[in-house]
Amino acid sequence: MKMEKIMEIAKRRGFFWHSSAIYGGLAGFYDYAHLGTALKRRWENTWRDFFLSLEENFHEIEPCQMLHEKVFIASGHVDSFIDPVVRCKKCLNTERADHLLEEVLGGSFEGVSLTEMNELIKKHGIKCPKCGGALEEVGSINMMFPVEVGTGNPERAYLSPETAQGAYINFKQEFETLRKKLPLGLAVIGKAFRNEISPRNLLMRMREFTQAELQIFFDPETINQHPRFNEVENYAIRVFPVKNRGNGKIEEMACRDVVKRLELPVFYVYYMARIQQFYLDILGFPREVFRFKELSEEERAFYNKYHWDIEINLESLGGFREVGGIHYRTDHDLKGHQRVSGESMEVNIEGRKFIPHVLELSFGVDRNLYALLETFYAEEKERTVFRFPGGLSPFDVGVFPLVSKDGLPEKAKEVYTLLKKHGFSVFYDASGSIGRRYRRIDEIGIKAGITIDYQTLQDNTVTLRDRDSMKQIRVRTEDLSDVLRRFLSGERIQRLGEIIN
Ligand code: GAP
Repeated sequence: MKMEKIMEIAKRRGFFWHSSAIYGGLAGFYDYAHLGTALKRRWENTWRDFFLSLEENFHEIEPCQMLHEKVFIASGHVDSFIDPVVRCKKCLNTERADHLLEEVLGGSFEGVSLTEMNELIKKHGIKCPKCGGALEEVGSINMMFPVEVGTGNPERAYLSPETAQGAYINFKQEFETLRKKLPLGLAVIGKAFRNEISPRNLLMRMREFTQAELQIFFDPETINQHPRFNEVENYAIRVFPVKNRGNGKIEEMACRDVVKRLELPVFYVYYMARIQQFYLDILGFPREVFRFKELSEEERAFYNKYHWDIEINLESLGGFREVGGIHYRTDHDLKGHQRVSGESMEVNIEGRKFIPHVLELSFGVDRNLYALLETFYAEEKERTVFRFPGGLSPFDVGVFPLVSKDGLPEKAKEVYTLLKKHGFSVFYDASGSIGRRYRRIDEIGIKAGITIDYQTLQDNTVTLRDRDSMKQIRVRTEDLSDVLRRFLSGERIQRLGEIIN
C-alpha cells in the first residue's frame, strides 16, 4: 500500500515515473522528473560531501559507462555475472528462480545451485506465478547488456553493470599522477546497467540505475590498522551476523568488539562506522531501521572476501532491504586487469612491490532515494508529508504571495530573487489558496514556506512556516537569508522568532 501511495505522489507531483511511458513503458526503467532530479542531486551531493571528506587522497572521477569487453573478461563478469532463471512452458514468462523460491517458500535462496533449485521447484510443485503453467528446468543468463561499437567491423563492449570497473581501469594512471600514495580513493557516481530478469518494486530493482561507489585502494599489510580508528572504537554499530539468522537478532556492538568478536579487519570496521554515521547523523534515518547484514559464503558476490550489506527496514517490502554494501574485493579486480591487459597494476612503495587491495563502499542511489521517500513519508489528519531530514528536500524553500493582487506577487518575486541570489533553491507558487499551497509543499517535502502578505507591504516582514510543526514566525526581509540558513541547518523555529499561530 505504502509503495502504491508513494508511486501515486511521485507521478502526480513529479518525482519519477515510468520511462518511455507514451509508448507503453519499458519494464525496469524510470525517468526522474523535476522534483526527483532535485532530490537525487541533493542525495548525491550529501554523499560526496561526506565520503570525499573522509581522507585528503579521496577523489571523484567520471569514467565512461560503456567499456571494452575485455574489462569484463578481466573482472570475471563475462563468466560469473549470472542469475538463475526459470521459464514457463506455457506462457514463456521468465522469473528469477531464487526470487520465485523466496516468494513461495520464504527465506533466501541466493547462491543455491541450479540443481538444488530444480529439486525444490519439483518437490514443492511450484508453477508459473502468472498462468499456473509448468516450469522448464532452471538455467542461467548473463545480466550485462552487450553493445556493438562502430560499423563495418564493430567491437564488442558492455554497458557497465557497476561503476567500480571504471575506477579500476583508471587506478594506475591516477596513482601515478596523485604522487603515488596509498590509500587512494576513487569515487564514481554514475549509471549501471543490468538486464534484470524481473525488475520490480519501483526504484529497488531497475535495469538502468545509479550507483555511488568509492573504491579505496590500500596496502594489504595495513588492513589491521587505521590511523583514525580511535575515533570510532567505542562507537556501536548495528550488525546482523550470519550466525543470528535463526533468531533474527541485530546486535549493537562497539567497533572495537566487532574487530575482536566478528574477526573483521580494523580498516573494514572503520568504514562500517563511517557508513552508519552517514545514515544516522547525516541522512537522519532512525537508528532502528538501519543494520549491516553479513552475507554467507554462498551469498557473497564472486569477487568479495568480506561482504556485508547495508540495509534499511522498509515496511512496504516486508523488512530489511539492501541499499548498499561494504565489500573487501582484495586484489581480485586489479589482478584480473593486469592479467588480461598485460599492464602492470603493481605499485612500488618504499621498495616494496605489490598489487593494492580494494575496499569498496557501494550504494545504490535509487534504492536510497526510495528508502528516503518511504521512511520519511507520513500521513496525518489533514495532510500527507515527506519529513525529509536536513538539507534533503527537493527545494530549500517555497515562496508564496498570499493573494494574486495588490502588489503581493511583485513583492513575492522580489523575495524569490533575493533568496536565489543568496544561493537557496526556491519553489515559487502563486496558484490556489494559501492552505492548498502549504499542503503542496508538505507533500513534496519542502521544509520552509515563506508567505508575503499585506503586512509585508507595511513593515517588510514575511512569515516563515515550518513544515514539521506547521508553526510560523515573522521575519524581516533583511534578516531572511540568515534566519533561513539557521532554520535549514536544524535550529528550531521557536528559537528564531515569536510563534504567531
Ligand atoms: N560494485 C559492487 C556492486 O555493484 P551490488 O551489490 O551488485 O555491488 C551495489 O550493487 C548496489 O547497487 C546495491 O546494494 C543496490 O543498492 C544497487 N543495485 C544493484 N542492483 C540494482 C538494481 N537492479 N536496481 C537498483 N539498484 C540496484
